[in-house]
Formats: sequence, C-alpha cells, structure tokens
Amino acid sequence: MLEVARLVKEFGGLRAVDDVSFTLREGTITGLIGPNGAGKTTLFDTIAGVHRPDGGEIVFRGRRIGGRPPHRIFGEGLVRTFQIPRPFAGMTVLENCMLVPQAQAGERFWNNWVARGRVRAQERAIRERALETLEFVGLARLRGEFARNLSGGQQKLLELARVLMAEPRLILLDEPGAGVNPTLLTAIVERLRELHARGITFLVIEHNMDLVMNLCDPILVMAQGKLLMQGSPEAVRSDARVLEAYLGGAPA
Ligand SMILES: Nc1ncnc2c1ncn2[C@@H]1O[C@H](COP(=O)(O)OP(=O)(O)OP(=O)(O)O)[C@@H](O)[C@H]1O
Ligand SMILES: [Mg+2]
Repeated sequence: MLEVARLVKEFGGLRAVDDVSFTLREGTITGLIGPNGAGKTTLFDTIAGVHRPDGGEIVFRGRRIGGRPPHRIFGEGLVRTFQIPRPFAGMTVLENCMLVPQAQAGERFWNNWVARGRVRAQERAIRERALETLEFVGLARLRGEFARNLSGGQQKLLELARVLMAEPRLILLDEPGAGVNPTLLTAIVERLRELHARGITFLVIEHNMDLVMNLCDPILVMAQGKLLMQGSPEAVRSDARVLEAYLGGAPA
C-alpha cells in the first residue's frame, strides 16, 4: 500500500530521517517505535507532505506522493493525526467533525451557488455521517460540547472521529495512547481494531510498549534517523539492538 524508499529528511546538518526504506502492507496495523528523537514524527510528516523530502521516494497505492502538498496526499486517502490533537477549541464536537473535508469528494464548490437544494442535502448527509461517527467513537453524548471542554482522552477520540470523516484508506497515528487514561485507552484500542477489521490500514507511533505489542504486527524500529529493524512483536522484543537503542547506545 505504501512504499518508502531511501527517504531522507534533514534539518540543517541533522538527518532526522536517514535513508529509511520500508513497505507497508495493506490491511496491517504496523507499529513504529524508537527512543525520543529517533525521527518517527519527522518520518510521518514527510510521508504526509508536511515536510518535503530531501531524498528518496514515497509511493502510495502506486502513485508517487513524495514532495506533493499535504492536501493532495490527504485527498488520496492518506491521513495523519497530530501528536497533540488540534480541534477547533471554540467549536462544538459536532461542528469539528462536520468541518473535515472528505478525501474522495469531488470539487463541487463552484456548483454550489446554482444548486442550493443539493448543498442543503449534502450538508444534511455530512451532519448525519458526523453523528454516526461520533456514535462510533463514543462521543455522541458530547456533540454539543465545546471541544476545549473535552479531556485529553476525549480529544483523542474526537481526533479519531475527524480522521474518519475524511474516509481514509491509511491512517498515520502519532501516539494515540499519550495522556489517555486506561479506560479510554481500551475504548480507543477497540475502535482501532474495529476499523482495521473494516479494511483501514494503520501506521502507529506509540511509546506504550504493551499497547504496541498487543495491537501492532509488524513493528518498525527507528533509532537516530535510521530504520534499525522490523519484525513481529516477538522478534522486536528479543532483539538486542532494540534494547541497546533504548538504553542510549548507537545503532548497530
Ligand atoms: N522542525 C524541526 N526543525 C529542526 N529539527 C527538528 C525539527 N523536527 C524535529 N527535529 C529534530 O529531528 C530529530 C527527530 O525528531 P522527531 O520529532 O522526528 O523524533 P521522534 O522520534 O518523533 O521523537 P519523540 O518520540 O520524542 O516524539 C530530533 O533530533 C529533533 O530535534
Ligand atoms: Mg514524535
């Protein structure tokens, strides 16, 4: 589904992503782990078009997307969440969902003023879908609440709902478990498994090892900008290089 080949992203003299290659198979929940500063978020941002790559290729469903603007990549159905959820604080939960553009939607903007009836129907359909999505993530009850009043975990669920509104094929999740209490974390994991069963592919950055080992297979390990290894949870758990990377050693 996604092929990353010899990807490089530099900040000044620092190679945050250093010659990284991997293939993401459709229908997997792939994990991405590594110590702080390993380059995981930079890799996400480069795939999602937030950063321009300084080298290498990114191919999504047979199309080169490396260097394309974020909204184009989004339009192809590759959607990334942010490490810190960023809903519009002063809008309600429902409004936040309704604002998300659809990845596959056609450009009907210019027709809107001649087809008011159709626009109203479209708006009703979006509202309907937003309510269904909020039901799915367990936030329907809070639809009229301002986003700023949600807890950290509820904001993560709202972020997930907003991602789903885009009807993505591949979701890049950056630390879905960070700052989430155990009860909500269980809810998030259940939703991810259900979405996976419906055919959505995931790439997940996460520091919570229990979560990664339970949810993800395969797992990619980064350290100091490089892909250190990839494999099953068992293989990653028993790899000496991974342990060493976490203890602060240089990649082998
Ligand atoms: N916009 C930027 N400008 C300059 N340097 C950056 C920028 N973003 C990241 N870096 C640097 O690139 C390296 C990789 O950072 P990155 O945020 O990708 O790591 P990470 O693996 O996501 O870490 P964490 O687990 O702490 O989130 C770090 O050395 C970081 O300081
Ligand atoms: Mg990060």
